[in-house]
Amino acid sequence: MFATDYKLWNDVVPDFVYDEKAKFFDLVVPTVDGTCYSYLMEMMVRDRKSVYLTGVTGTGKSVLATTLVDSLQTSKEEGGAACAGLVINFSAKTSSNVIQGTIEDSLERKTRTTLGPPRGQSGMMIFVDDVNMPEVEIYGAQPPIELLRQLIDSNGFYEREEWLWRTIENTVVCVGAAPPGGGRSAVTQRFVRHFMVLCVPDPSDDGLQRIFENILTGFLTAGQFHGDILDLSSGKYSSERAAREWSTVVDISIKPPSFKLVPLSLARFPLSKTPKHVIF
Ligand SMILES: Nc1ncnc2c1ncn2[C@@H]1O[C@H](COP(=O)(O)OP(=O)(O)O)[C@@H](O)[C@H]1O
Ligand SMILES: [Mg+2]
Repeated sequence: MFATDYKLWNDVVPDFVYDEKAKFFDLVVPTVDGTCYSYLMEMMVRDRKSVYLTGVTGTGKSVLATTLVDSLQTSKEEGGAACAGLVINFSAKTSSNVIQGTIEDSLERKTRTTLGPPRGQSGMMIFVDDVNMPEVEIYGAQPPIELLRQLIDSNGFYEREEWLWRTIENTVVCVGAAPPGGGRSAVTQRFVRHFMVLCVPDPSDDGLQRIFENILTGFLTAGQFHGDILDLSSGKYSSERAAREWSTVVDISIKPPSFKLVPLSLARFPLSKTPKHVIF
């Protein structure tokens, strides 16, 4: 019956494979929330629908979206979508002119007035991170955001020499942004109406523990640490405690408290620099 078609998210989270050579910030431990949100986002993108990822800083929005951009780029034979990807980070000083150039450069000219994904690619996914950062200008607009709105709204924009309309084909725009505050502005409903909005929650304690435990175990195993030390990385000891203590420390010292994931790197750095015999 139907029941057999359903699975718990918990049961479909992929295993983490520790890559010794990868930089710390490139290590992504699959979590239940991450798997769920990335599944929803992928479904939308494959259907050419835009997604707006929101949620407070440090909840893993950027990691989630950039991982999806990478995985969609893999070929269809390998389970991907052969979909070209472009990640752009907005800042206070981002100008619409530069953003237009970046988008045009990543696309291929199909006709004089049409641009589309490079040959052999089924589509193009553009992910714009920190989309609400650009300064609000004198008339209350944020020009780079208006450009994106026009791109989603009318599938194109005007090139700036002869003011010819350029149609952009097969391209989907997704964005990520923390809520307004600290230099971030509230974006208009005119813009947001184009998106399915997903709010990424604060990582759960289980999720945090899973991340700590997997990275720590991978690191200690790859470094051939002594068995006693290796045992400490299992849930009962350090990863659980580390997750709990970091949340406490972070809750007290950094506001907003949702910076929980950021200190991961701080935890690993001293460990990776410590000679093995000292950690006893
Ligand atoms: N699933 C994960 N596995 C490992 N590290 C993660 C994971 N999710 C987030 N992080 C780490 O947490 C930090 C914050 O994540 P980020 O994606 O920048 O959050 P946001 O974009 O919501 O502010 C990053 O340094 C990232 O490396
Ligand atoms: Mg981010």
